[in-house]
Amino acid sequence: MSLFITFEGTEGCGKSTHIHKLTERLQADGHSVRVVREPGGTESGEQIRKLLKHGPKNLTAEAELLLMNASRAQLVREVIRPALAAGEVVLCDRFYDSTTVYQGAGRGLDAARVQAIIDFAVGETRPDLTILLQIPLGISEKRRANRRGTDRFESANREFFQRIEDGYAALAKSEPERIRAINADRPLNAVQANIWTAVSGALKS
Ligand code: TMP
Repeated sequence: MSLFITFEGTEGCGKSTHIHKLTERLQADGHSVRVVREPGGTESGEQIRKLLKHGPKNLTAEAELLLMNASRAQLVREVIRPALAAGEVVLCDRFYDSTTVYQGAGRGLDAARVQAIIDFAVGETRPDLTILLQIPLGISEKRRANRRGTDRFESANREFFQRIEDGYAALAKSEPERIRAINADRPLNAVQANIWTAVSGALKS
């Protein structure tokens, strides 16, 4: 059964671990699962990812917005649509909500323009369910500090990450049907149980 699930959250919220655990559970239940990430997930997208994460510091917010969506347009057409058409469950580590929050709320680009670019990049391909993993700002800060090299995003200041946190909270409030906000500052199994409840609900509907 095809289902498109995206994962969102700030740096260090545990997305990768939870995607990995969910994949194992879905596969054990007989689902065919495709895991992808943004930016990236295709050969062209991974090249764009390098530029976005480790490219020149003076990359403008506008260029960042367009590159994120160039990667997304490729991923949607090369991987996501064919996988969904083949009946797979697609788990995507970040999708367009990251753009709304990072380039919109975070970088301060005009929300309507950001939305127009997203719409152009994804067309009709929209997530059935979005899992938003929320952790307190202080914990995300500590986890970022513990990482070896920081990238263009991780080196942003506290105000930027406060806008990201607020942006995600506002988004979750505005689309409660699609976006499930889960407190990820709890033991792994408790968070997984919440994720599984949301996913099994989506699989049934
Ligand atoms: P990550 O895959 O390690 O989380 O790194 C991706 C970074 O890119 C992360 O800091 C969030 C950022 N990002 C955006 O700013 N806009 C987007 O649309 C996406 C997909 C990611």
